Amino acid sequence: MTVQSTSGNPLDQAARDVLLGNDRGGYTIPTARLYPYQWNWDSMFSAWGYASFDMERAWQEVHLLFASQWDTGMVPHIIFHKVDPDYFPGPKVWGATHEPPTSGISQPPVAATLIRKMYEMDPEASLPHIKALYPKLVAWHDWWIRERCKDGPVAIIHPWESGRDNCPDWDLGMEGVPVNEDDPYLRRDTTHVQETERPQKWDYDRYLAILAFGRSVNWDDREMVENGPFLMADPGISFVLLRAFSDLIALGELLGEETAGLQAQESKLRAGLDKMWNAEKGWFDAYDMRTGRFANVLGSGAFLAYFAGVSRPAQDAHFARIWDKVSYGIPSADPDSERFEPRRYWRGPTWPVVNSLIAMGLKDMGRTEAEARLRDETAKLIEKGGFWEYYDPMDGTPCGGASFGWTAAVWLTWCGQGRAAQRAGKE
Ligand code: GLC
Repeated sequence: MTVQSTSGNPLDQAARDVLLGNDRGGYTIPTARLYPYQWNWDSMFSAWGYASFDMERAWQEVHLLFASQWDTGMVPHIIFHKVDPDYFPGPKVWGATHEPPTSGISQPPVAATLIRKMYEMDPEASLPHIKALYPKLVAWHDWWIRERCKDGPVAIIHPWESGRDNCPDWDLGMEGVPVNEDDPYLRRDTTHVQETERPQKWDYDRYLAILAFGRSVNWDDREMVENGPFLMADPGISFVLLRAFSDLIALGELLGEETAGLQAQESKLRAGLDKMWNAEKGWFDAYDMRTGRFANVLGSGAFLAYFAGVSRPAQDAHFARIWDKVSYGIPSADPDSERFEPRRYWRGPTWPVVNSLIAMGLKDMGRTEAEARLRDETAKLIEKGGFWEYYDPMDGTPCGGASFGWTAAVWLTWCGQGRAAQRAGKE
């Protein structure tokens, strides 16, 4: 059933139009040309967005994503439903043996959390879908613990697995990735978006070197973890998974399932958080699993701690510091760091989608003032610039891809809610 909004805010319809315009028949691309396939966490956000006006379409999105789950339990980060030469690296470069073709890595597991949100929006219609998806979610979470959490926190085998591709957190691990100079390639992303807003050649050389290794071992998880060129513990994805466990347990209880196994996995993950605590810096930090060295980098991944209901006073102070340095929170990198670049992808810009997760946590923790501020700043970015991929946190300039699905989705589900009425009330 399609529900029409009565809010009267033209941006609500514009947001729905972005999602519908990116719909390729059962799955939603992040944006045309730059990202023409189904991406894992983007798709979950799109589903959440659809849930605000078309529940059936929302569930279709989730089912199609999980239809590409691997036998190992992994849910891939990209599903190449229809080959599109506009995107590089495509299915051949990944070389994963799966039908339909997919990438060989995963992405932040927001599914259980957003499925729970969808359930709350319409319990009755959602229950049969949750029943069907629950074993798949359990298998995916099990895969994370089994194949990525040897040391406690989640360790990623490729920066793309984190969802925060070129953030400074990964510089340390990327320095150690050997590059194959004899393997030329042609990027497509820089023909769609200004080069200054995208990752650099230095990053891409290494991204592709990790892909070449993955291909050579047929994306075998053990091989990647034991012998791959890159392995770093990621605070962001660890917190996303921790939060997702609590939502999955709640879904399990709803279905009358036995959740003791999930609870044990959640506790194990929680106990591993201390390994990421950089006491000298006072924040949750990425570290290189091969050497044990901290990245010494503060980024938005650390602030996803709130999403998991975790806070520590020293990191709270950094949160306040970096937020006060920008006009639109939350920057993806520390504005006081020399690596900060306000318009280069994950090295500084503010991302509405990450803001929505941080805000969800702040709200659940009772930090309602901070949540309201973040919601207002994110809404203003969209009101000024439209539905872009990310924005300069200093002046709000829209960056990256336009008509971006997950930005439209978080407008519909979070920061755009009641916006027209609120503004009218203030005037
Ligand atoms: C980039 C982002 C990633 C996102 C994808 C599609 O790779 O870093 O988080 O899922 O684009 O939007």
